[in-house]
Amino acid sequence: MTVQETGPLTTEAGAPVADNQNSEQAGPGGPVLVQDQVLLEKLAHFNRERIPERIVHARGAGAYGTFTVTADVTGYTRAKFLSEIGKQTEVFLRFSTVAGNLGSADAVRDPRGFALKFYTEDGNYDLVGNNTPVFFIKDAIKFPDFIHTQKRDPYTGSQEADNVWDFWGLSPESTHQVTWLFGDRGIPASYRHMNGYGSHTFQWNNEAGEAFWVKYHFKTDQGIRNLTAEEAAKLAGEDPDSHQRDLRTAIERGEFPSWTVQVQIMPAAEAADYRFNPFDLTKVWPHDDYPPITIGKLELNRNPENIFAEVEQSVFSPAHFVPGIGPSPDKMLQGRLFAYGDAHRYRVGINADHLPVNRPHATEARTHGRDGALYDGRHGRAKNYEPNSFDSVKETGRPLWQPVRLTGVTGEHAAPSHAEDNDFVQAGNLYRLMSEDEKTRLIDNLAGFIAQVSRDDIAERAINNFRQADADYGKRLEAAVQALRG
Ligand code: HEM
Repeated sequence: MTVQETGPLTTEAGAPVADNQNSEQAGPGGPVLVQDQVLLEKLAHFNRERIPERIVHARGAGAYGTFTVTADVTGYTRAKFLSEIGKQTEVFLRFSTVAGNLGSADAVRDPRGFALKFYTEDGNYDLVGNNTPVFFIKDAIKFPDFIHTQKRDPYTGSQEADNVWDFWGLSPESTHQVTWLFGDRGIPASYRHMNGYGSHTFQWNNEAGEAFWVKYHFKTDQGIRNLTAEEAAKLAGEDPDSHQRDLRTAIERGEFPSWTVQVQIMPAAEAADYRFNPFDLTKVWPHDDYPPITIGKLELNRNPENIFAEVEQSVFSPAHFVPGIGPSPDKMLQGRLFAYGDAHRYRVGINADHLPVNRPHATEARTHGRDGALYDGRHGRAKNYEPNSFDSVKETGRPLWQPVRLTGVTGEHAAPSHAEDNDFVQAGNLYRLMSEDEKTRLIDNLAGFIAQVSRDDIAERAINNFRQADADYGKRLEAAVQALRG
C-alpha cells in the first residue's frame, strides 16, 4: 500500500503536525520540552532507520522483470514455471559486490552477485548465483574464514594483502577462481554487461521421477564489457554508484537488459564416473562434455520504487526450491541451504518472507508458522497445527526432489576426487585460453596485489599455486612480483 503524500503532515499515529521546523521550548531561547512528541518520535525513528547490512554482498542494486521459457524442458523437470514454451514468470534480480560494505564503490575487482527470485505458482524459486561459474572454496566450513580475509583486518580495519594471499596460498582450490577474478572479467563495466551463473550443480527431476544434474548460465545480451584496473580505480572514485545508476537509468530509458538462459544437463547416472567431480564448485563442466542448451530469456524491465523496502530488505535463499528442482550434494551448496535463512532471520526478522518483495506473488504461503515480531495477523483464526480434523491446509506427500543414493560412513570427508580432478588443471586451462594481452593484464593485476604482501613465504606460497597451474604462468608472475618488490 502506498501512502497518499498529500494533505497534512502527521505523526506516526496519524495526528496532524503543527510545526515541523521549530521544536517546542519553555519560552523563546529556553530548553526543549519532553511533551514535544513530534521531535522525540522523529529522532527515535531516525535512530532506527538501519538494519544490519548483509554480512557479504552488502552493496547491491535490484530490478523486477520477466522470465520467458523458449524451449521444451519437460523431459528434464516438472517445475511448473518451466512447463510450456512462451510461459512467463515474474522475477526480481539483485546484483551485488561481495566484500564491500553498504556504501562501497561499485567499480571494484570482486565477484558480482546475481540473485534471482522467480515468483512461480508453486512458490518462490531463488537462484542465488554469481557472475562467475566457479568459486574460491569447495566446503562451506571454510566460508567464514575466507570472508574474514576479504573483509577488514581486526587490527588495521582494512583489507590486508597478507590475509588475502595467506588464505588463497593455503587453499590451492582457489587458484581457478582467482585466475578468473584477476583476468579481464574481474571488473565488469556494469551489471548489464556481465553473465550470471547458478554456479552450483542442482537437481532437476521430471514427472516420471528421473533425475538430472544441471548448471545454469545467463548470457548477457548486452555483450560482455569490462573495466581495466585503471579505468575502475578512476570510476570508483568519480562515481561510486556507477553500476547501480547504470541499471536504473537503462530501465528508465526503456533499454531493458536481458540475458539468454542456458542449462548444462547431466543425466544423474553419469555423475559417478564423470572426469571431474560434478559437485565441486571450483570446477566447470567443459562445454564439449555438456553443451549449454538455451531454455529461456530473462528481461529486467521495472525499477523498485523504494530501495530500502525492496532491495535492502529483499531476501534470497538457495534453499527456496519448487517441485521439480532440488539441491545437489555439493558441500558448499549444502552449507548455504542453512546460512541464508539464518541470515534473514537475524537481518530482517522472522517475518521477512511476508514483505511484498519476498512473499510469493503467484501463489500464497500457507504455513502453520505464526506470530513473531511484526506479524500482521494474516492467518486470522485459522488452525495453526497439523494433523488436524478441520478443513485446512494439508501436506502433499510428494517431495520436491528425487532421493540421492549414498554409500559409505559418516565423517569429515574431503570432496571426492574424480579421474582428472586436481586443484590446478582448470586454472591452467583458463590461463592457456587467454590472449597474450589478457595474460599480461592478469599477471600485472596479480603481481600488483601479491607485491603488497609483507612476508616472502606467504607471497611464494601464493605464486606456487599459479606455477602448478601452468609453468609459464608461475614464471611470469614470479618475475613480475620480484620486479615490484625489488
Ligand atoms: C558456503 C558458502 C557460502 C555461505 C555460507 C554464504 C553466505 C551468505 C550470506 C549469509 C549472505 C547474506 C544473506 C542475507 O543477509 O540476506 C550471502 C549473500 C549472498 N551470497 Fe553467499 N554464501 C556462500 C557462498 C556463495 C556462493 C558460492 C555464491 C554464488 C554462487 C553466493 C552468492 C551470494 C549472493 C548473490 C548473495 C547476495 C544475495 C542478495 O542479493 O540478497 N554465496 N551469502
